[in-house]
Amino acid sequence: MTQLPGLLDTEAIRKDFPILDRTVHDGQKLVYLDNAATSQKPRQVLDALNEYYERYNANVHRGVHVLAEEATALYEGSRDKVAAFINAPSRDEVIFTKNASESLNLVANMLGWADEPYRVDHETEIVITEMEHHSNIVPWQLLAQRTGAKLKWFGLTDDGRLDLSNIDEIITEKTKIVSFVLVSNILGTVNPVEAIVRRAQEVGALVCIDASQAAPHMPMDVQALQADFVAFTGHKMCGPTGIGVLWGRQELLEDLPPFLGGGEMIETVSMHSSTYAPAPHKFEAGTPPIAQAVGLGAAIDYLSAIGMDKILAHEHALTEYAVKRLGEVPDLRIIGPTTAEDRGAAISFTLGDIHPHDVGQVLDEQGIAVRVGHHCARPVCLRYGIPATTRASFYLYSTPTEIDALVDGLEHVRNFFG
Ligand code: ALA
Repeated sequence: MTQLPGLLDTEAIRKDFPILDRTVHDGQKLVYLDNAATSQKPRQVLDALNEYYERYNANVHRGVHVLAEEATALYEGSRDKVAAFINAPSRDEVIFTKNASESLNLVANMLGWADEPYRVDHETEIVITEMEHHSNIVPWQLLAQRTGAKLKWFGLTDDGRLDLSNIDEIITEKTKIVSFVLVSNILGTVNPVEAIVRRAQEVGALVCIDASQAAPHMPMDVQALQADFVAFTGHKMCGPTGIGVLWGRQELLEDLPPFLGGGEMIETVSMHSSTYAPAPHKFEAGTPPIAQAVGLGAAIDYLSAIGMDKILAHEHALTEYAVKRLGEVPDLRIIGPTTAEDRGAAISFTLGDIHPHDVGQVLDEQGIAVRVGHHCARPVCLRYGIPATTRASFYLYSTPTEIDALVDGLEHVRNFFG
């Protein structure tokens, strides 16, 4: 097996992930390279979910009985774990949502219903980038349509990076919010947060960061990022589906209005009006995803025990190897940065004029799971004049052998299509 400096002990780690042992298509060994879409779950997370339902299941924050208290302690304990994982100054800044999309929609709606000085209206501007996932485009389009605000964006360079050459024209005194992705799900690019935040702060704009492809893969420190909001999701970081996080600065969460109304988020209700509970509960209407939060807590324990810096080093070594190996495949064009510098472990590519859906299907027949399509980032495909890409994405249990299998699989695809 190829050895690279910085790799984790994947032999031991893979034992924690039962699904990685399965075969597909009559005995093909599964090579799971679709981690940017969702990660697999270790037994520790599966056990935590099972144990929650077998021993503690109850609704939170409202019961006086033992189970309700224990379920509440587990749910709120997961909030503590998330706060520590992202170095949040306060646990009250961690809002549980159902996914990153809901977190980003929550920010857009907070600002849409806010009073001055946060209010987004027809005299103000919203800034995003051309490499956003649809979940960080559509909520802002909706907000712009509703309020008359102008939507602006940073374009892309030919090598898959943000074009910040006109940053002073894009982010202006009219900008209310700049919302951008930390690591692109399609290009793999890691964006220069500091330069964007500095300019946003100069003009007094808020900053929202989509960290969906970052939180699973690198140490997160919301204080160092100096953003106002950070959104991510649990299922890409070994947790279950149905749980997302929005971190927001405390004073903003105190000032901004709730979006969803209902139980749990109120202080008092009369037939005429209501007052709201303090954050984070103000933003968590209804029964929350309790088991899912507990599962996310277990995932955070699991990742933290391995070490996010070690996971980052592992993925960097794999990415460097993958970029090199993919470069050996004739007619393969990486869409995004072609070096391992400042890039994450998701690599998109085209293969001659073979349609990515055909590439994906022939790889699947060999047991290799990749994602094909526009990856919910269609403007990127439009920018590079392609209908879609094939994307391979790695995680802490991925190995150089799996990258070799991908390269061999692509050879097979080329032969298959002549
Ligand atoms: N956002 C996920 C992806 O990039 C689903 O595949």
